[in-house]
Amino acid sequence: MTSKTVNTDDADRVHIFDTTLRDGEQSPGISLNTAEKVEIAQQLARLGVDVIEAGFPITSPGDFEAVKQIARTVEGPTICGLARAQKGDIDAAWNAISDSERPRIHTFISTSDIHIEHQMRNTRDDVKAGARAAVAHAKSYCEDVEFSPMDATRADVEFTAEVCAIAVEEGATVVNIPDTVGYTTPEEYTRYFGKLYEFAPSLRGVELSVHCHDDLGLAVANSYAGLLAGARQVECAVNGIGERAGNCSLEEIAMLIRVREDAHGMTTGINTREIARTSRMVSRLTGYVVQPNKAVVGRNAFAHESGIHQDGVLKERSTFEIMDATEVGLDSNQIVLGKHSGRHALQDALEQLGFVVEGGALNQAFKRFKEIADKKKQVTALDLEAIVSDEMRDRAETHELQSFSVQAGSDREPKAEVGVKMPSGEVVSAASTGDGPVEAIFGAIQKATDTDTELREYHVAAVTGGDDALGQVTVVLREDGRSASGQGVSTDILEASGRAYVRALSNLLDGAAIKLAEDAGPENAELTGP
Ligand code: KIV
Ligand code: ZN
Repeated sequence: MTSKTVNTDDADRVHIFDTTLRDGEQSPGISLNTAEKVEIAQQLARLGVDVIEAGFPITSPGDFEAVKQIARTVEGPTICGLARAQKGDIDAAWNAISDSERPRIHTFISTSDIHIEHQMRNTRDDVKAGARAAVAHAKSYCEDVEFSPMDATRADVEFTAEVCAIAVEEGATVVNIPDTVGYTTPEEYTRYFGKLYEFAPSLRGVELSVHCHDDLGLAVANSYAGLLAGARQVECAVNGIGERAGNCSLEEIAMLIRVREDAHGMTTGINTREIARTSRMVSRLTGYVVQPNKAVVGRNAFAHESGIHQDGVLKERSTFEIMDATEVGLDSNQIVLGKHSGRHALQDALEQLGFVVEGGALNQAFKRFKEIADKKKQVTALDLEAIVSDEMRDRAETHELQSFSVQAGSDREPKAEVGVKMPSGEVVSAASTGDGPVEAIFGAIQKATDTDTELREYHVAAVTGGDDALGQVTVVLREDGRSASGQGVSTDILEASGRAYVRALSNLLDGAAIKLAEDAGPENAELTGP
C-alpha cells in the first residue's frame, strides 16, 4: 500500500458506498417506484453498507420523494443525495435528505477538458469557481459533503488536484475520484492517486473514494487498486448495475476484501450472509437477470461440473473453492416449511428471512403459501422470499391483475380474458386471442387498459430447482423512449406473466405521470429551497 487517509475510525476499514439506487437506477430500462426503492434501501441497511446514495433528487419529483422516504425511514447508514454543482440541485438534495440521522450531500463537476469544452462549454476557471461555490453551499446545510471531479481519470491530474484542494478548503469530508467512462487501468489509477496526493497534500486529511465503471471489465480491479493506493471508500452497486456496462459490483469488491484480507489487511462492515438475498431482491425488482457465471452471486458461482473438481471438493472443499456458499448466504434453499405448517410457523420463517409480516399482509402471505404448498412438495426459504416479495409489489394506487383465464378459442388460437384493477379502484376487463397463451394475455391486458406499449423483453426463470418450481417472470415494456420492468411469481407461468406485465405497465405509467408533471414546468416540480 502506498499511502492511507488519516481521518477514518480504523485506518484499514473500507467504507462501502452503495449507489444501486442512483447510478444503478440509471441503467437502461430500470425504473423503480418509491416503495421498491425503500425496500432495497432497508435491505442495504441489513447488508451493512455505510452509505446509501438514495438518488438524484433534482431530476424528478419521483426521485425526490423516494430519497425523502429513505432518509425518513432507513436507519443505520448515511443517506446521500446527488447534486450537480448548482444551487438548485444542492437545495433539492438537502431538502430530500435532511430528515436522515446521517445526511450527506454529494456534489460533482467535471474536470476533464473533454467535458469542460464539449459538455459544459465553459472554462477551467469556471470549474474551480463552481466547485468552490457548490461545496460551500452544501456545507452551509450539511456537515458531511462529498465532492467528485467527474471524468477525473481522463482529466489533467494537476488541474483535478487543484479543484479537489478547493473542495477540501471549503469543507468537503470525502473526495471521490470517478473513472466515469471506465477508461483507466489499475496501474494508471494507482499512479493517479499518487499524483493527487503529491499535488494536493490536503487530500491526506479527508477520505478518498473510488467510483469505477466497467466499460473495459476493470471496475472491480480498478476500485481495488484505488483502495491499495489509499482510498477508504468504494462506490459500488449490487449486481454491478449502473450506467452502460455498470459500476463496480458490491458483492465482488466486498468478497475480494474479505477473502484476501491476508494480502491487504482491509475490512468492511458488510454482513456477507445478506449478499445473496440482496442480489436476488435487486435482480427481481430491476428486472436485471444475474448471469449464471457471475462471480459470487451467479447460480453457478459455487457449482463444480468437472469430475476432477467434484472429486477434489468432496475430499476437501478448499481444493477448488476459495469461499463457502454459506458465507454469502447462498445456502438459503433449505426446506423451511411443510404442507401442514400453520400461520405461526410461516410468520417465524418469514422473520428469519428478515420480513416482518403481520395482520392482513400475513393472511395474504398465508393464502399464497397454502396455494403453493398444495402444488409443491416442499416450500423453501427461496419460495417464501419470492412469494412475499411478490405480494409486496401491489400497492393501492397501482394497476393490479385481478383475474385471468386462458382457453382454446374456436380456431384453436388461445383466448385470454383478464380483469385489471385500475389505480382509481375500477376493474376493467377484456378478452383477446394470440398465437400463444402469453400473447393472448398481454393482448387482453392492453385492450382492458387501453394501452399499446412495446414488449421489449420477456424472461422466465425458476425460483428453485425441481419440476414443481415457482416461476418468476420479468417483463420490460417501452413507450416514448422510456422503459420499465415488472415481475411476477407463481407456480403458474401464465399467471406470473400477467402479473409481471401489469406491474411493468404500472411502473411505466407512474413514470409517465412524473414526466408530465415535470414537462408542465418547474412550479409543478415540488422542489423548493429552504
Ligand atoms: O460516473 C460518475 O462520474 C458519476 C459521478 C456522479 C460520481 O456517477
Ligand atoms: Zn458513475
